[in-house]
Amino acid sequence: MENKSKITGPIFTARSLDEYIKMFDLDLDDLKNKNILDCAAGASSFTANMTQKGFDVKAVDLLYDKEPQFLKKKCENHLKILIESLSKIENHFKWDFFKNLNELKEHRIQAQNEFFDDYKKFRNIKYIKSNLNSLPFNDNSFSLILCSHLLFIYDHRLSYNFHINVIEEMIRVSNEIRIYPLVKHKKKKSEFLIQIMDYLRKVADFEIVEVNYEFRKGGNEMLKITKQ
Ligand SMILES: C[S@@+](CC[C@H](N)C(=O)[O-])C[C@H]1O[C@@H](n2cnc3c(N)ncnc32)[C@H](O)[C@@H]1O
Repeated sequence: MENKSKITGPIFTARSLDEYIKMFDLDLDDLKNKNILDCAAGASSFTANMTQKGFDVKAVDLLYDKEPQFLKKKCENHLKILIESLSKIENHFKWDFFKNLNELKEHRIQAQNEFFDDYKKFRNIKYIKSNLNSLPFNDNSFSLILCSHLLFIYDHRLSYNFHINVIEEMIRVSNEIRIYPLVKHKKKKSEFLIQIMDYLRKVADFEIVEVNYEFRKGGNEMLKITKQ
């Protein structure tokens, strides 16, 4: 059973469609004929909202074999812990997209409710349990992969080899990959970023793109990877 005041692994968060649009610089008109995979999607409402709008989207996460009730409790507990910890370091963040902590909390609660309504109906259909380092899809199955808040921010816990394996796997199944954010704290980019771009430059093109979203200070960039 998870400790109620301490999170031991990546947190199970619920970012919204609006946040995804800004973090990944998405233009919905460009996505009409594309199929999209949200990798390590957690309780994000991106897949639910996008499929309701008629887009072709699937999501994978390590925890999608779990029952909705179990995940809902985890998500609520993680949000509570997150709000408590952010309240002690509010000055590390930019209060622009969210005006204050309460607005952040309400935004995330709405996103997680939308996710759980959809997850209950479409588990194993749109929501597929998988480890990112071995995706259950054929080569070139997707036009676009999005990966929010897993790679580069847990580099104290997820190794360089894990990052390489995951990004190679994403390049295998998709033509384009967008990863956000690239900074952990104090505006410092993960040391893996440059090494990974150098290592994979023969198979893909890399571009760091400035985006119109910054919550973590310095977190206004995403990595766009295009398969050669
Ligand atoms: C911080 S959450 C991000 C969720 C969502 N993308 C968002 O931005 O709100 C990180 C997610 O990564 C998932 N995760 C951690 N390790 C994973 C792995 N090896 N393969 C697939 N998912 C993983 C966790 O279960 C968690 O849901």
